[in-house]
Amino acid sequence: RPYRYLGRVESTQDVLKAWAEAGAPEGALVLAEVQEKGRGRRGRPWASRPGGSLTFSLLLRPLLPLPALGPLPLLAGLALFEAAGVGGLKWPNDLLAPDGRKMAGILLEAKAEGEEVAYVLLGVGVNVAWAPQGAAALGEFSPRSRREVLEGFLERLETLLPLLERPEALLPRYRQASCTLGRWVRVHTPKGPVEGVAEAVLPDGSLQVGGVRVGAGEVELWAAPP
Ligand code: BTN
Repeated sequence: RPYRYLGRVESTQDVLKAWAEAGAPEGALVLAEVQEKGRGRRGRPWASRPGGSLTFSLLLRPLLPLPALGPLPLLAGLALFEAAGVGGLKWPNDLLAPDGRKMAGILLEAKAEGEEVAYVLLGVGVNVAWAPQGAAALGEFSPRSRREVLEGFLERLETLLPLLERPEALLPRYRQASCTLGRWVRVHTPKGPVEGVAEAVLPDGSLQVGGVRVGAGEVELWAAPP
């Protein structure tokens, strides 16, 4: 696969975006030793350290209309979960350690051309041997190296991608990986908080909480109803 391995970048998402605009093919990979302006979801920063973090962005060019990408965040999360081999997924795709601290996250940025998707930048950040305060490192729970996690992720993703068009086959596997379903949650959505039991993940990638369908938001896990 075509790839670029860089020492220090602002964000692998931006490097891959420029490459995508210049015609990079499906599967193009940008890997960085460390990012100076790593981006997380909801405009948060994503920190990394040389030797301690796995940070990369992968280019996808799915031949699908934008709404068909609904299950992609789940699918990418499942690939990450299987590559790490430990922990569970907080909806949609935060990888949490067994003790609930965050070990890895995924940032998906899509460019649409009318109804079609021109490309998707799939960014993955894993705390492997280093984690910021309050977060966990995969190395506390598993001996997997950065290379093993990267290769495992790329392999898993390749076998899972065909399931994008068959969410009925994807969802049972996602449920197995989830540490959100069945729990009492509060989801901070753009329209305000939604609270209740996380009952189901739906084929469009959304989460059903106390009978309410949530398309986007930040999940707060509770041990039991407050
Ligand atoms: C999150 O959980 O908020 C998503 C974190 C995504 C971080 C990765 S690291 C590689 C890629 N480049 C970035 O700037 N962000 C993603």
